[in-house]
Amino acid sequence: MTTPKIYACEPIEVKLEPEKIYSFCICGYSEKSPFCDGAHKEKCPNLKSHKFSVEKEGKYWLCQCKKTKNPPFCDGSHKDLK
Ligand code: FES
Repeated sequence: MTTPKIYACEPIEVKLEPEKIYSFCICGYSEKSPFCDGAHKEKCPNLKSHKFSVEKEGKYWLCQCKKTKNPPFCDGSHKDLK
């Protein structure tokens, strides 16, 4: 069983659009972080990407440490890693 890798110990701000389905990287190996590029299929086959959408267009802080309890959004859990 493989575990997620910490991609970065800080969130990233991204602009998201409503009515669009996004695929959030759960494994931390994606080269398109914070979005999935399919890397989990090789690196963490026990994990799947997290599909999500937003209701309002805007800027959102997405987790890159992979420790959030509210994926894909940063919940401050990265502060415990430092
Ligand atoms: S970057 Fe993961 S909880 Fe903030």
